[in-house]
Amino acid sequence: MAWQRLAAASLLAFAVSAIDLDINDPDSVKHAAFITSHGMMSYYSGNESGQTPGYLPGSGTPEGYYWWEGGAMFGSLIDYWYYTGDSTYNDVLTQGMLFQVGVDENYQPDNASTSLGNDDQAFWAMSAMKAAELRFPNPPEDKPQWVPLVQTVFAYQVGRWDTKTCGGGLRWQVFQFNNGYDYKNAISTGCLFNMASRLGKYTGNSTYLDWAEKAYDWIKSVDLIDPKTYAVYDGVSVTDNCTSLNRLQWSYNFGVLLYGAACMWNVTGSDQWKKEVTSLLTGGQVFWPKGVLKEVACEDSANCNNDQKSFKAYTSDWMAETAKVAPFTEPTISPILAASAKAAAVQCSGGNDGVTCGMKWGQSTWDGSAGVGQQMAAMEIFNTQLAKYVAGPITNGDSGLSKSDPNAGNSATTDAQPSSHTSLIDMGDKAGAGILTFLFAATTIGGAVWVSL
Ligand SMILES: *[C@@H]1O[C@H](CO)[C@@H](O)[C@H](O)[C@H]1NC(C)=O
Ligand SMILES: *[C@@H]1O[C@H](CO)[C@@H](O)[C@H](O)[C@H]1NC(C)=O
Ligand SMILES: *[C@@H]1O[C@H](CO)[C@@H](O)[C@H](O)[C@H]1NC(C)=O
Ligand SMILES: *[C@@H]1O[C@H](CO)[C@@H](O)[C@H](O)[C@H]1NC(C)=O
Ligand SMILES: *[C@@H]1O[C@H](CO)[C@@H](O)[C@H](O)[C@H]1NC(C)=O
Repeated sequence: MAWQRLAAASLLAFAVSAIDLDINDPDSVKHAAFITSHGMMSYYSGNESGQTPGYLPGSGTPEGYYWWEGGAMFGSLIDYWYYTGDSTYNDVLTQGMLFQVGVDENYQPDNASTSLGNDDQAFWAMSAMKAAELRFPNPPEDKPQWVPLVQTVFAYQVGRWDTKTCGGGLRWQVFQFNNGYDYKNAISTGCLFNMASRLGKYTGNSTYLDWAEKAYDWIKSVDLIDPKTYAVYDGVSVTDNCTSLNRLQWSYNFGVLLYGAACMWNVTGSDQWKKEVTSLLTGGQVFWPKGVLKEVACEDSANCNNDQKSFKAYTSDWMAETAKVAPFTEPTISPILAASAKAAAVQCSGGNDGVTCGMKWGQSTWDGSAGVGQQMAAMEIFNTQLAKYVAGPITNGDSGLSKSDPNAGNSATTDAQPSSHTSLIDMGDKAGAGILTFLFAATTIGGAVWVSL
């Protein structure tokens, strides 16, 4: 393909500076997505011999990338394949996603226990959901399959739905011994909502839609969605029965709810869901103050952590998908994504290769930062510019490749401790050996939260 040769050529040429992007030319957009995907994957060596498939550098440590981001990255590569048609990374991402399923095929591998949030688990599952929705090739028949993986994670999370405090919701952390077990947040319950709405849309099974309603209602009941402005706040503490809010606003909290609500509208056609989608989009305006996406809680001050540097990747994708499944949002969403893509191309002008992406899309010069999150966010915003050339995600009745298994997750347990596969003694050893990991577990997703609580 012409754009791939072009891409290869510009990676070789020196004195490349910034990514030349014409959003009206699909070859130019594919070229931009390829360049950024290449930069992103330069961080990944999980497919090399002796390495662990699915791990990004420093997996599980504060200096490195937390375990969940690998799963999120594979989802972004499924998007890359879907929008550009380039299957370069298909085998690598399939290998990583299957290696990390864990003994119970529920994306709770023992190694991840010391910082396992419900949201961490869900990010892997949402990538599996995406594989099904976008008709990504199925895993080999003797391996776990995409939709059953999501159904299993759903079953585990429903088992952890917690009515003892705050009238419901999901706690952030899965296990009692981790910091963050006392916190119920928009992203954990929001991911369950997002998965449930998509499972409902994909399978047509109303059990999932009922759970989606329940999760969304709970989020509103504790004012994680501001009743007046529809701002989406980060979380609430169970220690005071969820009466005091942490009002930090992260773009992915908005995005995860927006896309879930859009799927609910798509399935139900109801005016109520239309109103929720529209109101969330209005509340989301905080994230494009000048018409370009911005991680407002940390971007100006340049103190976003590695997690937060990746949030715009998911927000971009969820906004693009929302425009597909709830077309009445398209006139609002498209100009934001287009302007953000142009701005990101300008920001991808750093590093030795001249095409390394920083985070500050509104800024005319490279911000000096580099990493998986910045590359992923730029790649995803470029991908969105190809949306008009692809079909939308699969809906019930369409020809999905991945088959539902209503029994998946039947053996799910309500686990406040790791599964029987890991004894507590093992856990103690792990925590002892990696005490820093343990202490810093609280700085996983939404880490700034703890500072401000
Ligand atoms: C690992 O994946 C990269 C693509 O990201 C590829 O270039 C490389 O050849 C792969 N390595 C192995 C050992 O398959
Ligand atoms: C868990 O960690 C061990 C030791 O680092 C590694 O050999 C193994 O492959 C890891 N398992 C998974 C599923 O990541
Ligand atoms: C905690 O909040 C829930 C609803 O948010 C309420 O039903 C319950 O009565 C409250 N419990 C206490 C002890 O205040
Ligand atoms: C629902 O979403 C699908 C894509 O998943 C789209 O093709 C369809 O047009 C949407 N339905 C409505 C009523 O907009
Ligand atoms: C719908 O999904 C639920 C939860 O996975 C499952 O228990 C139930 O059997 C499914 N119903 C049908 C008709 O497949």
